[in-house]
Amino acid sequence: MAEHLTIVDHPLVQHKLTLMRDRRTPTAVFRQLLREISQLLAYETTRELPLTTKSVETPLEEMESPTLAGKKLALVSILRAGNGLLDGVLELIPSARVGFVGLYRDEETLQPVQYYFKVPHGLDDRLVIAVDPMLATGNSSVAAIDLLKGAGATNIRFMCLLAAPEGVARMKEAHPDVPIVTASLDRELNDVGYIMPGLGDAGDRMFGTK
Ligand code: URA
Repeated sequence: MAEHLTIVDHPLVQHKLTLMRDRRTPTAVFRQLLREISQLLAYETTRELPLTTKSVETPLEEMESPTLAGKKLALVSILRAGNGLLDGVLELIPSARVGFVGLYRDEETLQPVQYYFKVPHGLDDRLVIAVDPMLATGNSSVAAIDLLKGAGATNIRFMCLLAAPEGVARMKEAHPDVPIVTASLDRELNDVGYIMPGLGDAGDRMFGTK
C-alpha cells in the first residue's frame, strides 16, 4: 500500500457510518453495522494481496484462474473493541489466523499496559492486519504495533473505523511503515480523548455496557 492513510469513501461505508454515529442506534444494529463495514474496509485493506493462477475446469472448458498466492494472513484484535471488527473480517477470510492484544491505560502514567498477548506463530511470514475501531490518541495502537513487531511482524496494516488526526500523526511518527485504512478522519480529540464528532465509546456501544 503506497498511502499511509486510506479513507474508504465508498457510499455504502459512509451511509452505514452515519447510522452508527447516531446516538439513537441500538446496540444490536450498531454491532451489525460494524460487522458489515468491517468487510467493506477489509476489501480495501487486502486490495493488494498477491495473486497467482490455478487451473480450474468450468462446465465448459479448462482455464487458468486467479487465486490468492498463498499469502498467509493474521488478524489481530486489539481488545476489547477490536472484536467488533474481527468477526466480519474472519467471515471474509476464514483461513486467517487470529491473535489478541489486551492493553489498559494506567490512570497515573496514562500509558498503555499490556495484560494479554497471544498471536499466531510465524508472524514474520504473514500479512498482519491489526483491528481496532477507534484510532484516538494512538497510544494503544502504537503500543500494540510495538508488540507485534517485537513478535516478528514486518508487514502490518492497521484497520479502524474512525481516526483522529492526533492518532494518525502519532502512528505515522512511530510506525511510518504501517498503512492505516479507515472510514473517516474526524476533526479532533476532545480533552478526555474522545474522537469528535465520533460515535462515543465504541466498546460500550457494541457491547451495551454503560
Ligand atoms: N475510544 C472510543 O471508543 N471512542 C473514542 O471516541 C475514542 C476512543
